[in-house]
Amino acid sequence: MGKAVIAGNWKMHMTCAEAQVFADAFKPLVANLPADREVVLAPPFTAIASLSSSLAGSGIHIAAQNIHWQEKGAFTGMISAPMLMEHGVTHAIVGHSEPRKYYSETDEQINLRARSAQKHGIIPILCVGESLDQRESNETERVIHRQIEQGLEDVDPTQVVVAYEPIWAIGTGKTCAAEEANRICGLIRGWVGNPSVTVQYGGSVNPATIDDLMAQSDIDGVLVGGASLDPVSFARIVNYGR
Ligand code: PGA
Repeated sequence: MGKAVIAGNWKMHMTCAEAQVFADAFKPLVANLPADREVVLAPPFTAIASLSSSLAGSGIHIAAQNIHWQEKGAFTGMISAPMLMEHGVTHAIVGHSEPRKYYSETDEQINLRARSAQKHGIIPILCVGESLDQRESNETERVIHRQIEQGLEDVDPTQVVVAYEPIWAIGTGKTCAAEEANRICGLIRGWVGNPSVTVQYGGSVNPATIDDLMAQSDIDGVLVGGASLDPVSFARIVNYGR
């Protein structure tokens, strides 16, 4: 098994100045982590450069919250892999439910993003997950299987992280029950076709739920939104089981 990947997705939060305050408080809380886990922070694009230098030497990785599939060109508002690599970005979130919903991102585009990331040595964190409607109409497995199949077409399954994020659990305070999250993460592992793929759970992860989630056999990490904005609460999550 690889290392657990504990990632914080800051979404549209944190100016550079705020990110600096976070980094100063967070770094000492996560010094001397056990070797079985790695920490990734996904700030907004504007804070990537400064956070990357504040965290230099800390072992904390930087992720982009999205990535375009072209290297350059007439794509107003977009950011490409070479632009991210210049700042030491190692991971890129693709297929998060918010861009899927607000900007109508398709599985096909998400797949192009994942492939472009890998081509440049950036590890895509592919987010998948069902809506409440889909769960209530017993479509969970079908929806996620499709998202995996299309999202990972021609993607190297050894250089990817998959995050199971039930949409109804994101930002709602309703963490999915650990056993159910584990069941879906196990299915995802089978569908990816790489038994040692890192499968994260995401959706209202917080200091109170982390230990139970990380004790599950098929959950190899978490993708944390709200609780990653506070250095003390994210440090508690990173220090799960200790
Ligand atoms: P949340 O967000 O932890 O605030 O629910 C998770 C995510 O969207 O990745």
